[in-house]
Amino acid sequence: MKNPWENINLNDYENHMSLDSVYQLQVLNEMMREQFATYDMESIMLLGVAGGNGLEHIDTNRIKKVYGVDVNQNFLAECVNRYSSLGEVFEPICVDLLTDDLRLPQSDLLVANLLVEYIGYDCFQKVVKLVAPEYVSCIIQINTGSSFVSDSPYLHAFDCLETVHHQMEEDALVNGMTEIGYRKVERLEQELPNGKKFERLDFRRM
Ligand SMILES: C[S@@+](CC[C@H](N)C(=O)[O-])C[C@H]1O[C@@H](n2cnc3c(N)ncnc32)[C@H](O)[C@@H]1O
Repeated sequence: MKNPWENINLNDYENHMSLDSVYQLQVLNEMMREQFATYDMESIMLLGVAGGNGLEHIDTNRIKKVYGVDVNQNFLAECVNRYSSLGEVFEPICVDLLTDDLRLPQSDLLVANLLVEYIGYDCFQKVVKLVAPEYVSCIIQINTGSSFVSDSPYLHAFDCLETVHHQMEEDALVNGMTEIGYRKVERLEQELPNGKKFERLDFRRM
């Protein structure tokens, strides 16, 4: 079965995420700059890279490889187009993380921003074990009673995502990571305009 994210239009996604009333693309961009700067590493894997928001913060003097993973081939083509200056440092990987016979390269840092929501904790554990990173940095969205998609003129473009969406909870993610040998090393919160908030949770292999 096709993943519903393959039917999402990148303009709809980015226009929605960057509305003044949503402001998530801008907040994610700033949080990614910090994610990339916090740890010493040579390779990063970005799960659910979408259109490449944040890739401009990659310092190629320090970071030799960036894997951008996404199920939507059009999103990845746009990443390559927008960030051609990264050259061979950026390597797109088009795959549905929910497939059984998943194969991914090793990476020092694994970043998953608003992604665990769409694959669930068990699949995320499987991905972390495969990639075997030293550090994992996740941003999850904490809702305050309202829908997981903020109200906007683009709202109905995302109706199909309800079938794959999981509500996130910090404790469940932390417990899942502890089970596979990662301990929490950082927790940061960022308020959003519409009563929602982002939580950044970082983990280190024990
Ligand atoms: C909410 S977006 C997050 C995008 C990005 N991290 C950001 O900062 O804007 C989720 C992304 O994950 C991708 N995605 C969702 N489910 C996936 C799956 N099963 N396998 C691979 N990519 C997936 C989507 O195509 C989309 O680009």
